[in-house]
Amino acid sequence: MGPPKTPQITPSILNADFAALGAEVGRIPSADWVHVDVMDNHFVPNLTFGPTMVEALTKATDVPLDAHLMIEDPDREALAYVEAGAGSVTFHVEASSAPVRLARELRGHGARASMALKPATPIEPYEDLLAELDMVLLMTVEPGFGGQKFLDLVLPKVRRARELLDRHGLETWLQVDGGVSLETIERCAEAGADVFVAGSAVFSAEDPDRMVAALRSAAQSVG
Ligand code: DX5
Ligand code: ZN
Repeated sequence: MGPPKTPQITPSILNADFAALGAEVGRIPSADWVHVDVMDNHFVPNLTFGPTMVEALTKATDVPLDAHLMIEDPDREALAYVEAGAGSVTFHVEASSAPVRLARELRGHGARASMALKPATPIEPYEDLLAELDMVLLMTVEPGFGGQKFLDLVLPKVRRARELLDRHGLETWLQVDGGVSLETIERCAEAGADVFVAGSAVFSAEDPDRMVAALRSAAQSVG
């Protein structure tokens, strides 16, 4: 699967109504993926869901799940999210002691393998790993919470990551995550991102699915 033909919008449910998550994912049927922020209260100071919730969500929507693991031990725990039904699993490079082995394990079990970098983590040291990945997630906020302000300082890293992927002719997708909205998505697309997580921008909207479409056309409007 090459780079996405059209920008992929992957709304995060972190700011959705947790008392009605099944119904909430039903409000974004036109999303390309549902971004599920898994937090273990160790890697980040917040606690959300585990594999059981991911499995329940696969029954609430036909949209594939993009699990973003903000957990301390993805080397040991990531596969549980593949078994739970996530089509894409993102681990943080800062938390993995064996990222190549983990990426190959995820792919070997039929999931897309994705690696996330926090804002202060440079992309260059991982140039030789990129071919092992189906997606790179560049955090545009410090992980742990939705509704934070977009960090423009990450945009140069998005550009450099895009250059590396293009230089190696890789089909790896480039995802941005955190503070993405109608105000910030175009600069992310200009910098070279092709997959966009939006949490509060989608679930604070009157009609979340219309916001998904608006975000997609805003990203597409960038030549
Ligand atoms: C933060 C999560 C993001 C966040 C996005 O740790 O990884 O996915 O929920 O939410 P917004 O779009 O509100 O910043
Ligand atoms: Zn996320």
